[in-house]
Amino acid sequence: MDTKTIGILGIGAIGSVIASLINPQYLPNTYHYNRSPRETIKIKRNNIKIEFSIRCDIYIDKKQHLDWLIICLKEYQFENAKEWLSKLIGPSTKIVVIRNGLQLKEPILEFTSENYIIECMIDCPVQPGSDGFYEQLRKPTITISKKEALKEFSDLFNKKELCIKTTSDFKTESWKKVCESSTLGAILCLTGETCWVFKDPKMQELYKSLLIEGINVAKADGANINDSFIDEMFDKLIKYPDTKGSSMLTDRRNGNPIELGAKNGVIKKKGAFYHINTPFTNLICNILSKINRSPK
Ligand SMILES: NC(=O)c1ccc[n+]([C@@H]2O[C@H](COP(=O)([O-])OP(=O)(O)OC[C@H]3O[C@@H](n4cnc5c(N)ncnc54)[C@H](OP(=O)(O)O)[C@@H]3O)[C@@H](O)[C@H]2O)c1
Repeated sequence: MDTKTIGILGIGAIGSVIASLINPQYLPNTYHYNRSPRETIKIKRNNIKIEFSIRCDIYIDKKQHLDWLIICLKEYQFENAKEWLSKLIGPSTKIVVIRNGLQLKEPILEFTSENYIIECMIDCPVQPGSDGFYEQLRKPTITISKKEALKEFSDLFNKKELCIKTTSDFKTESWKKVCESSTLGAILCLTGETCWVFKDPKMQELYKSLLIEGINVAKADGANINDSFIDEMFDKLIKYPDTKGSSMLTDRRNGNPIELGAKNGVIKKKGAFYHINTPFTNLICNILSKINRSPK
């Protein structure tokens, strides 16, 4: 029987979902690593509670041999995770990076070669519940950058529980997600309110202005985004239920750091690089950076 050793670094919302989706065949050789202790994976999906014990290391003193390392950290958490990366990544370890933002390979390149890294986008809203379970609101879709890696990547998972897609233009797909989630997220985060605020035409205007700034920067960076994207996003926006929130809003409400660098921050930074004016984005970044706490 084929065996693989798999490590998962970061057992938070997404890391817990991923841990619960590992192909049962590989579970005996799956290892979990997290900053704080974790004894169980607790996920609620389709109104069913899934709970199982794990062995989770909060410190390792020597290098591990892993065939695969799946990294489920937030963008600002990579800097403090370097010691983990140096011990968990061997010369033949394949790395899966699942996070929001752009240039997902960048923080890993000092530990391995680019060919060993698979960048992933995940569409899977997950929120912590008061009962200690993470609530997974729908079936996850993972989009991966490497078509040729599809077979071995999908073999890692219980395929009934997730949808895996490939894209030949990961950069464009990532930019679309950054533009959409940062625009919606910033407005909800600043108002502290859910999508009901978009009933106000002034908020709709602000949404469009921010979205257009993001798209201008994305195009300058080489993303292939059609003008119809603005109407598509706007149609989506006005159909959202009044109660819809965003991860940036959730982070603010829970007093957690906002993923500013992976969202509006990257638009501001790349805009400056390409000399694209982003006045609304800059203003929003300045305000959000003040309400953001320093990274844990
Ligand atoms: N949550 C969602 O609904 C969702 C949806 C789509 C995409 N995403 C993206 O997925 C990525 C992961 O997000 P998440 O929501 O899973 O974040 P999260 O719940 O904050 O989980 C991050 C985990 O990493 C651990 N960690 C942080 N720094 C560490 C370090 N230096 N060493 C070891 N472990 C460390 C944290 O440990 P502690 O237990 O000590 O905090 C936590 O368990 C983000 O890019 C996010 O934007 C999230």
